[in-house]
Amino acid sequence: MLRLNDAVEKALSEMILTSEQILAIAGRFCLAMREGLAGRESSLKMRPSYLDKPTGQETGTYAAIDFGGTNIRVMRVKLMGGGRYEIERASSFKVFHAEGRQIFAKMASELKKVLVPGEPIALGHVFSFPFQQNQVNQAILLHWTKEIKIPGVEGEDVTRLLKEALEIEGMGYVIPRAVLNDTVGTYLTFAYQEPAAGIASICGTGHNSCCLCLTAGQERIVNLESGNFDPLTQTHYDRLLDEQAETPGQQRLEKMVGGRYLGELFRLMSSDCLDSPWQAYEIRTEDLMGLLDPRARQSFKALKATPEDLVVLGRIARALIKRAACLTAATYLGMLHYMDPTEGRHYAVGIDGSLYQHNALFAEQLNYILRRYSRQVAGIHGVGQGSVLGAAIAAALTMR
Ligand code: BGC
Repeated sequence: MLRLNDAVEKALSEMILTSEQILAIAGRFCLAMREGLAGRESSLKMRPSYLDKPTGQETGTYAAIDFGGTNIRVMRVKLMGGGRYEIERASSFKVFHAEGRQIFAKMASELKKVLVPGEPIALGHVFSFPFQQNQVNQAILLHWTKEIKIPGVEGEDVTRLLKEALEIEGMGYVIPRAVLNDTVGTYLTFAYQEPAAGIASICGTGHNSCCLCLTAGQERIVNLESGNFDPLTQTHYDRLLDEQAETPGQQRLEKMVGGRYLGELFRLMSSDCLDSPWQAYEIRTEDLMGLLDPRARQSFKALKATPEDLVVLGRIARALIKRAACLTAATYLGMLHYMDPTEGRHYAVGIDGSLYQHNALFAEQLNYILRRYSRQVAGIHGVGQGSVLGAAIAAALTMR
């Protein structure tokens, strides 16, 4: 039977977070928010979104683009008010290896398929990477994340690249109005239906959150870029993954909780104990589900392992998923405390992303920790289609 070696056993025990550790992380997170908002040195970028909270009464038909981690989706969306909407037409394609301009050209041609030719339409664009923004319709990419590397976009304004592509495609009738992070998109979709919305988060390929913050006397939606949160205690395998990643030293929290990385952490740990046939990043986080569910274990990646071995590998998968949920919950506790240190106000938390939507262990653990340590949670909800609908709502908000 497979035996875990001392290094893996050590990492597994380091991954169990005690109550004290969870609360200490929440405290450090809250402090990092304060420092970031005050413009002092912080691992949190704290970017204001230039968008107001929706009322739920926004109406009209809009074009929406969602440039996420793996896929790019385009849509024609009708907002009907009262929190209701209809996706009229949609298309999507996988992010492929090419120059930035080619990706934007493909985005424009896909969009053409879902819109009415010649009909003027306002567009909202969700761009799920860290960017610098001085107005609602501008986003200068600071750097790629989630192991994506598309040349020719870093340091550029993605709205300008999009406008150029639309012009070349003869689509001057599409008017880009807003560019926003996917957490902000999720927040808008959530708040369109839920007045108590306070926090929105993505727990998918990547990880990040936004929340309502009081800045310069005004309540604003602020994108924390919390995937970059640090300091966190890393295990030997976290350090190994970080050293081999595209962006060593950056996105330390995301590398412990993001779907892009959990499968790879699993691979690094299990390869230390067994002759592993896997290539780097070959194990996807979805594959770990097979190890968590006893009925699905045998299907795990055609590995020549006995049922007992799979139980042992299941320990690694469980520990990784549980730690991801505890760390994520700790950051929400930090946000709730920042938003109301008296802890008298209640906020609803909206979450989009495959890890939350499809991994029951992650969702259960996250809910459990949040409810155990905070009395401020008005509800925790999955927000399907969060970012792309948010792009349409953002376009509507700019027409006010
Ligand atoms: C990006 C964020 C994004 C998150 C979720 C991270 O890698 O830096 O901007 O919100 O992924 O997609």
